[in-house]
Amino acid sequence: MDSPFKPDVLKGKVALITGGGSGIGFEISSQFGKHGASIAIMGRRKQVLDAAVSDLRSLGIPAVGFEGDVRKPEDARRVVESTFNHFGKVDILVNAAAGNFLAAAEDLSTNGFRTVLDIDAVGTFNMCREALKYLKKGGPGRDASSGGGSILNISATLHYTASWYQIHVSAAKAAVDAATRNLALEWGTDYEIRVNGIAPGPIGGTPGMSKLGPDEIENKAGDYIPLYKLGEKWDIAMAALYLSCDSGKYVNGLTMVVDNGQWLSRPRHLPKEAVKELSRVVEKRSRAKPTSKL
Ligand SMILES: NC(=O)c1ccc[n+]([C@@H]2O[C@H](COP(=O)([O-])OP(=O)(O)OC[C@H]3O[C@@H](n4cnc5c(N)ncnc54)[C@H](OP(=O)(O)O)[C@@H]3O)[C@@H](O)[C@H]2O)c1
Repeated sequence: MDSPFKPDVLKGKVALITGGGSGIGFEISSQFGKHGASIAIMGRRKQVLDAAVSDLRSLGIPAVGFEGDVRKPEDARRVVESTFNHFGKVDILVNAAAGNFLAAAEDLSTNGFRTVLDIDAVGTFNMCREALKYLKKGGPGRDASSGGGSILNISATLHYTASWYQIHVSAAKAAVDAATRNLALEWGTDYEIRVNGIAPGPIGGTPGMSKLGPDEIENKAGDYIPLYKLGEKWDIAMAALYLSCDSGKYVNGLTMVVDNGQWLSRPRHLPKEAVKELSRVVEKRSRAKPTSKL
């Protein structure tokens, strides 16, 4: 699908995207690149980064990949610095790197719980902290008139209610959302950095969906989640563009839900036709009761 944004909305910007080598992170990387940004992507697997960088370059997008683990502060520092050294500035940080797997709470080890919190929550914090120096108003590579840069944290909706077999990811994304709001307050005030998030629903063709919603589950989801519909990576990338270019200049501290309303979904407990009839009966019964004198 074509983008509704003008192709130059991110012209001259430099974006660093963790998890940018695959899935949603890669789609954000290519859409940002198609809209004028230079792209640095970060991940642990060299072959994934190499393939993604070569795809981006084949689209004419200036792109570079840096190996690193967001859990390690020294990797976070090196990758942010390398991005600055390569492109001369850093305007946008997108934290898309995450870990996930299905596990019943009673079977989840401390290590399993901690690993996901480490990648999603601590990793996001590490990257934000290391990028601060470059994103803040007046930071290296920023001209005086351009203000601060922006941060986008990719979250989820799992923790808005409760999710089966996702206690680790729910806890991690709750922490990510808290970080989004707190950094929006502190760094928005002190450094003119906007910090926002996106909470995607289930997105087709992603590593996350193939792990958490294999076809066997996927085919049945519509039966018990009325608003169930897979989103496209494009949907998330368009929201990311909105929040990261001038269209989002007055948006700070928001985690935008992009899920077709799915987290609000409830099974219909009563057929529509039965509602009128039932209301009539209930109303009649309540009128028939003697009115209270109190
Ligand atoms: N897919 C969905 O339906 C869905 C729904 C809601 C939210 N989300 C969120 O959207 C984001 C992308 O998800 P996705 O499904 O597209 O999955 P994905 O491609 O598997 O995203 C994970 C990416 O992060 C990188 N990564 C993982 N651990 C890392 C670490 N410690 N350090 C650096 N990079 C690391 C991975 O590369 P390496 O393994 O090479 O490091 C991979 O490129 C995630 O934040 C996810 O929670 C996805």
